[in-house]
Amino acid sequence: MIKLGVNVDHVATLRQARQAHEPDPVAAALLAELAGADGITVHLRGDRRHIQERDLRLLRELVATRLNLEMAPTSEMLRIAVKIRPDTSTLVPERSEEVTTEGGLNLLKSAGEVKYAIEKLHKAGISVSLFVDPESKQIKQAASLGAQLVELNTSAYAEVVPLGLNEDHADFKRELAKIREAAALAHALGLRVLAGHGLTYRNVGPICKVPYITELNIGHNICARSVLVGMERAVREMLDAMHSTTP
Ligand code: PXP
Repeated sequence: MIKLGVNVDHVATLRQARQAHEPDPVAAALLAELAGADGITVHLRGDRRHIQERDLRLLRELVATRLNLEMAPTSEMLRIAVKIRPDTSTLVPERSEEVTTEGGLNLLKSAGEVKYAIEKLHKAGISVSLFVDPESKQIKQAASLGAQLVELNTSAYAEVVPLGLNEDHADFKRELAKIREAAALAHALGLRVLAGHGLTYRNVGPICKVPYITELNIGHNICARSVLVGMERAVREMLDAMHSTTP
């Protein structure tokens, strides 16, 4: 069965909005595991806009499934990864002005930097996944640089199905075909294939049927839904707290 890695970055986004202690992404990660998540993913960004090093340290201690650290291949992040030792590091491009990761790595341009990062992480016993667009030249380069895993960027696919699925639509067919072809090529080259970015309750179905994809990383949509499905209970609990103290 296809596995689910839950990205809890946006629990931390909510916490950082108030520079407060709650909600704690570590608590959210443990609840995600209780619900059956196969792994926990966090992206430690250079600007620390959501996940903090404290979160990473606690997650390393407490996550019982697998911890995947998304990171840019910078010397700062390599130093942190080697110290914390996540099970996997997913290398992503990072720009401080971006709202979220905007695309896959350009492995043709950044080959030297990525190869160095892969070697350093492998030496520390950390598996390396490369986040790439579903393009054959990127997949081939990922294999030749020595990565063990690739995560196919599904954001172009997700953009063509923003609200509903129309499986007959030409754009949908084109984007899904790109992912299917990229997954088959990656598998043929001996890479384990993951996928993620922009996946939602509505658009995840067809991706789960793509042969060779073994795991998805999903964050924003799960965090968004958890706010809504939890709202009713949260308000009831506040009313209970208010009324139980009223004489
Ligand atoms: N995979 C990668 C490489 C990402 O950068 C992100 C976003 O942090 C995700 C998956 C999860 O994307 P989303 O939050 O849209 O589900």
